[in-house]
Amino acid sequence: MKILTLKLKNFRNYTTCKVDFASTITILIGDNGQGKTNLLESILYLSTTRSFRVDDDKLMIKKGEQFSSIEASIQVNTIKKLQVILHPEGKSLFAMGNKISRSSDFIGIVNAVLFAPSDIELFEDSPKVRRRLMDIEIGKINKHYMKALNNYTKLVKDRNQLLKNQVLDHTLFKSLEDLMIQQQGFIIKQRQVFIDKINETLTQYYQALSNSSHNIHIEYECCIQQQEDFEKEFAYKYQRLFDKDLALKMTTFGIHREDLTFYFDEFKVEDFTSQGQRRLIILAFKLALIEYIKEYSKELPILLLDDVLSELDEKRRRNLFKVLNKDIQTIITTIGIDDDLGISNYKVIKIVDKGVIYE
Ligand SMILES: Nc1ncnc2c1ncn2[C@@H]1O[C@H](COP(=O)(O)OP(=O)(O)O)[C@@H](O)[C@H]1O
Ligand SMILES: [Mg+2]
Repeated sequence: MKILTLKLKNFRNYTTCKVDFASTITILIGDNGQGKTNLLESILYLSTTRSFRVDDDKLMIKKGEQFSSIEASIQVNTIKKLQVILHPEGKSLFAMGNKISRSSDFIGIVNAVLFAPSDIELFEDSPKVRRRLMDIEIGKINKHYMKALNNYTKLVKDRNQLLKNQVLDHTLFKSLEDLMIQQQGFIIKQRQVFIDKINETLTQYYQALSNSSHNIHIEYECCIQQQEDFEKEFAYKYQRLFDKDLALKMTTFGIHREDLTFYFDEFKVEDFTSQGQRRLIILAFKLALIEYIKEYSKELPILLLDDVLSELDEKRRRNLFKVLNKDIQTIITTIGIDDDLGISNYKVIKIVDKGVIYE
């Protein structure tokens, strides 16, 4: 898939802006604080209906304005026109001029994958951040997954409420737990597929980016031991942990407590690697993620690389361009480039200056 045109209105530091993108590589060059990341943020918002930087959507409305609009033409098989309007009451989503009332029907129409410098915090962040990353990526291509996750979250809330109210109706608990088990069986299967697919190419990408022979893999810290017999194991755990849950007034077991651990050879990434290595591991992860998206959605996503060049030495920069699939539309932001990185014949450069884009 490709983004052909992006139009912004009152988005962050943009008043109005229209950008056409190359179908291969577009490089956005600009000094600090000019609006490069803002532009990528708007494209990612179309993909996930959330900002990767802030929880409060209102922060993306240009200071002093009432609303903000992100509009794009996306080429999938046909051309799709999408628009998001951010306003004081929330957001409105439109696809081909029709209002879309549920975010889940909008998410994934555009699939964009972002690398941001702050991603390297992933290894030291809480499990919640890693779960969220996995949930967003699976959810973008699998509506059933998003639905199961929403159902499960509601069921946990209900169960926690019963625990808080000290309602000890075991039949009620059992029926809630049965529903939770079904949703979790499905979620675990999808998470396993996701991690297996990433692991297929993670090492290969890391080695190509880093010129090293280290192995990188992700371990899925699944809440159950035996995925084949998950119903039995879940039922047993709920029973065994009931007194603990009742004392703590919350559900202490389930897919909402799972985690991913990244390994560099036999060591945990956060215990062993340098900042530079972590950056390459994240980049390799994003490239492996593209393989997952390609396999399960049959579409190549749009790749957004924020400030990646200044963070890599020249050799690694060249490796990155060697590894990038020429069919993937890539948008790169940078404060400058001093060599052509071997990509001179298929890139378009634009300059970002105080919320204005120059050709
Ligand atoms: N809601 C907003 N209204 C107006 N300006 C904003 C808003 N949010 C952020 N900005 C401005 O956007 C700029 C940061 O843009 P950003 O894209 O992060 O810069 P960079 O080009 O370094 O990536 C800052 O100058 C900031 O003041
Ligand atoms: Mg930036």
